[in-house]
Amino acid sequence: MRLQTNFSLKDYNTFGIDVKAKQFIGVESFEELKHVLKRFYTEEIFVIGGGSNMLLTQDVSKTVLHINTKGKRIVEHNDNQAIVDVEAGENWHEFVCWTLDNGLGGLENLSLIPGNVGTSPIQNIGAYGVELKDVFVSCEAIHRQTLDKKTFLKEDCKFGYRQSIFKNELKGQYIITKVRFKLTTKNHHLKTEYGAIKDELKNLKIDKLRPRDISRAVIKIRQSKLPDPKELGNSGSFFKNPIIAVSKYQALKQQHPNIPSYKIDENLIKIPAGWLIDQSGLKGYRKADAGVHKKQALVLVNYGSASGQDILNLSKKVQDTVKQNFGIDLEAEVNII
Ligand code: EPU
Repeated sequence: MRLQTNFSLKDYNTFGIDVKAKQFIGVESFEELKHVLKRFYTEEIFVIGGGSNMLLTQDVSKTVLHINTKGKRIVEHNDNQAIVDVEAGENWHEFVCWTLDNGLGGLENLSLIPGNVGTSPIQNIGAYGVELKDVFVSCEAIHRQTLDKKTFLKEDCKFGYRQSIFKNELKGQYIITKVRFKLTTKNHHLKTEYGAIKDELKNLKIDKLRPRDISRAVIKIRQSKLPDPKELGNSGSFFKNPIIAVSKYQALKQQHPNIPSYKIDENLIKIPAGWLIDQSGLKGYRKADAGVHKKQALVLVNYGSASGQDILNLSKKVQDTVKQNFGIDLEAEVNII
């Protein structure tokens, strides 16, 4: 545990934005975390995990606390299921691979999502028909001011589409330190309905499907259209898929018969933001080093030296254009700081 000053955050955010933290400190255990929270009791601190869901638009004057706690453990294992505890600082995809190595099912559809385990409940990460909440049991968290430890059960977390209590009522109050998952040991509930997965599995021609096969298919799909943050800075989906009224959808469908959609309920429909941006002619658009990804319009990318402000300006252009063309407001999914 070492306090560093005037510290570049370039390697700590997947957009690769080069802003400075006035003070930076990494913690590797719960005790260190508690110690730092006590020491900086009077100051506001800025917590960073995998840095995969944020756009840094300016230097950070708060002390940056990097959660780097490691550890994963199977705490219970029987004929049907396993309970697994994981420390917040574990990399998400490495954790998914570890569960597959241990023959556990449940996380295969969430392969290759950037970020850390501790931040996964905050926005209820999801992909290819599975959301974190489907395998989540509980998480432990520490209150930033009182240092009280609290366990949040699934029903406490108020999970929704890219939503949880940690993003809303309790925003900024708790630091998640550990997450508990319930996974399958056999009779895995494989989710293969998602179109792209079905197609990919057909190519792989497998007789008896295992979670690892789904993971392979997901990795292949993601690699074919989502940029690897190590090669091209990005934060995954920059916008949420907007949810609109059915009446508005029907009007849009008159003009755009091919508009894709997912029904939410009788009154609401979700439209892929990627499609709206693509149809607005912005896929592959680039201004200096800030761009809309060539293969998936929902992802904004940093070609090298874009500033957070450049990416933010680009995101505003995307929002304005989509609003003009479709009358729909796009909301950022990433946290803008
Ligand atoms: N589409 C286009 N052009 C594009 C991109 C998409 O026309 O440039 C169309 C596709 O053809 C398809 C539809 O939009 O009909 C949906 O696209 P896709 O299946 O790629 O999924 P998405 O809605 O764009 C969501 C998540 C992703 C997740 C995928 C797969 C959100 C905001 N994003 O994307 O999550 O991987 O589904 O389940 O819900 C992330 O959060 O970082 C992320 C990548």
